[in-house]
Amino acid sequence: MDTAEIRRRFVAHFERAGHTAVPSASLLVDDPNLLFVNAGMVPFKPYFLGQETPPYSTATSVQKCVRTPDIEDVGKTTRHGTFFEMCGNFSFGDYFKERAIELAWDLVTKPVADGGWGFDEAKLYPSVYVDDHEAVELWRKITGLPDDRIARLGKSENYWSMGVPGPGGPCSEILIDRGPAYGADGDFSAEDRYLEFWNLVFMQDELSAVRSKEDFDIAGSLPKKNIDTGMGLERVAFMTQGVENMYEIDVMFPVIERAMEMTGRRYGAGDAGDDVLFRVVADHVRSSMMLISDGVTPGNEARGYVLRRLLRRAVRSMRLLGYEDPALPELMPISRDKMGETYTELHTDWDRIARVAFAEEEAFRKTLQAGTQIFDLAATEVKQAGATRLSGEKAFALHDTYGFPIDLTLEMAAEAGLSVDEEGFRNLMSEQRERAKADARAKKGQHADTGVYRGILDTNGPTNWLAYETLETESTPLALLSGGAPVSSLANGEVGELVLDRTPFYAESGGQVADAGTIEFDGGRLEVIDVQRPVRGLVVHQVRVVDGEFAPGNAVHARVDPEWRTGARQAHSGTHVVHAALRDVLGPTALQSGSYNRPGYLRLDFGWTKSLTPDQVREIEEISNQALRADLPVGWQYMTLPEAKDWGAIALFGETYDAEKVRVVEIGGPWSRELCGGTHVDHSSQIGTVVVTGESSVGSGNRRIEALTGVEGFAYLARERDVVAQLTAMLKTQPGDLVPRVEDMVERLRQAEKEIEKVRVAQLLAAAGSLAEQARVVHGVHLVAHRADGAGGGDVRTLALDIRGRLPQGDPGVAVVLGVTDGKVAAVAAVNDAARDRGVSANQLIRALGPLLGGKGGGKDDVAQGGGTDTTRVDEALALVEAEVAAAAGA
Ligand code: ALA
Repeated sequence: MDTAEIRRRFVAHFERAGHTAVPSASLLVDDPNLLFVNAGMVPFKPYFLGQETPPYSTATSVQKCVRTPDIEDVGKTTRHGTFFEMCGNFSFGDYFKERAIELAWDLVTKPVADGGWGFDEAKLYPSVYVDDHEAVELWRKITGLPDDRIARLGKSENYWSMGVPGPGGPCSEILIDRGPAYGADGDFSAEDRYLEFWNLVFMQDELSAVRSKEDFDIAGSLPKKNIDTGMGLERVAFMTQGVENMYEIDVMFPVIERAMEMTGRRYGAGDAGDDVLFRVVADHVRSSMMLISDGVTPGNEARGYVLRRLLRRAVRSMRLLGYEDPALPELMPISRDKMGETYTELHTDWDRIARVAFAEEEAFRKTLQAGTQIFDLAATEVKQAGATRLSGEKAFALHDTYGFPIDLTLEMAAEAGLSVDEEGFRNLMSEQRERAKADARAKKGQHADTGVYRGILDTNGPTNWLAYETLETESTPLALLSGGAPVSSLANGEVGELVLDRTPFYAESGGQVADAGTIEFDGGRLEVIDVQRPVRGLVVHQVRVVDGEFAPGNAVHARVDPEWRTGARQAHSGTHVVHAALRDVLGPTALQSGSYNRPGYLRLDFGWTKSLTPDQVREIEEISNQALRADLPVGWQYMTLPEAKDWGAIALFGETYDAEKVRVVEIGGPWSRELCGGTHVDHSSQIGTVVVTGESSVGSGNRRIEALTGVEGFAYLARERDVVAQLTAMLKTQPGDLVPRVEDMVERLRQAEKEIEKVRVAQLLAAAGSLAEQARVVHGVHLVAHRADGAGGGDVRTLALDIRGRLPQGDPGVAVVLGVTDGKVAAVAAVNDAARDRGVSANQLIRALGPLLGGKGGGKDDVAQGGGTDTTRVDEALALVEAEVAAAAGA
């Protein structure tokens, strides 16, 4: 039974039993605890937790899942896939254990002809959580199986949670006995013998802490008792298809077959190592394709890193199988054709998917080339020294300098029979991280360690933050620090950190720089240099005393520079506008990966592998400015994260939004909705203008677009207008005629250069006549051996042939010209028929010159050319020509 049919039957079975069929959600969820959807229940979590009311009381789905903690096991067991599809049925307070068991047992045991899997009851073993006596009774009643066929297993097998706080409960699994060839009788830990393929979770608890599979706190009961089941589609497929493991099923094996053709090696031919590699290839090619399809791009953090690792492991496995050319362009289309039957976006979005995957392979090939040499050298050194361990420094250098991920170093070391000082490596990594952090702190102006700030926060509570409401307030100073420690005053010119009870200053965050402004006190003034929030809730101003001496005591007046703030609002709203325009032009997968904005300037980094065309850049700028002209309203509101998601707001990868409510900023309604805490204009026209000034690459898979906003944008355009004005004055023309005028000038310049070239050649040839007249006669051969400074290859040839033609007709004649330009010598020899009859050969002459001139060449007996890079021995070469001719003709 092929995979598609299993999927279809599963859904039909549960639809018949009244379930709503829900399509698979994207692999990417807005869940701070999860990198990827890793179980069928994930999209239903808010229903299980009682946070939202489900629109149905029972549902069924076939959900795309990615799990990578077991990545090392892929290919080694029968059943570990980094990507898999989980078939599930769910009850939200509707039916519970009994009905769940009935429904599952029915599908599993029903004959194939009646729409089931037709598994032989004699081979099936339900398992229960050891304390779940109710479940034992139900299994006995529903299946009629004797007690000894029901396995009782502990928490680690039969209590399910997501590994993080959230819903969980005891579960029952259905195992199928694959026979004594796969393990001992009754040994349920022999997972290849007793293969678990369906997990029924009786979800009833809410967990508050999960320290391990067996160690967690139950915070209470869920509002309603629920059912969550997960049946491994690949597992059922390999059972019903009569193959050995999940990598051999209909939607995966074709990739292995293609890999066999490419590598010339055989899968299943007895080499266990090769078999694992083939399976890794099949698994990883599929997983990475599915991840890219859902919008992940390779990177060094979080999701991007997982994808990078999968792609690189696939490529490396092919190399280990002996295939060194780009492999993904051959393999991924095979996987696409199989998976594309269900996930049609793999076809419609193929260009993008392929671009991302293939670019990563290219980048990796370069890394491998450089790093492998260094690794081999290091490994040889270690072995020569009689040791077996690669030092942490080497592993770190490979990582830091050559971009070699540590897991690759570990794998390669293992293959070379070496271990790696991982601890040493990790120490160096964390030292480097510390250094980077310290640098960043130093740049930000000597922030004290967070303990001091925590103390201030604990004493005074959070800062009353008014940046959204006002630009000026009266405030009371709460703490003054210098060099990280409390001080009582700051002298004129000194820098310190000031905490106020309330402030209108925007603290740097979300890409927007801190506000500039002043804080006035009785008898003087502070300039605000930077504003940060070193701990949640506490705003800290870095200040310099510009007037008087500051001792906190009386109230102060905090004043944000209004022009600065206007510029910051324009730039930040401008960033959202450019992001939306970018997505209009490139599609929704172009997603911001970082941003920075300050008054007048913005830049936006986004995941994209190709450089943008000038047309795309123009279009982005044009759409941005249309949005400004349309004077779209800009608004913001608070909502829960799921609400924001329903609203289509863009939340950025890797960010965790842990506040209860998030702030969503929208421009022109749904056109631009982003989670954002920045300050914004009220109407898009207030941005003034958006002038895109650059588009560039920032690391692999990321591009950067830069733009100017507001006055800065206009100033930039004014400067360009100035340039145009200067040019029109210089060329005495009108702006509209400028381009044709310059084109005309360039064309005339080109013509003039051609003319000059002609004249030069004519001059060169004019010399030919007198050179021919000055020919020497060597053993009856008229010989011209001439050095032409400034003449390149083509001219040298023309000159040599011309001289030969002017030598006395019928007499033996030889012309050799050595042209010297740009540190090179071009040599051409031309020999006429009579001289050839005398034994002189152009080919031989040129060959004789080769060693002298540091080069080589050759040709026929009548004309040959060559040369070299040694310009110091041209005169010797001319003498050699004469000697060669004398030797040939004199013989
Ligand atoms: N959520 C359960 C699992 O992933 C069904 O096994």
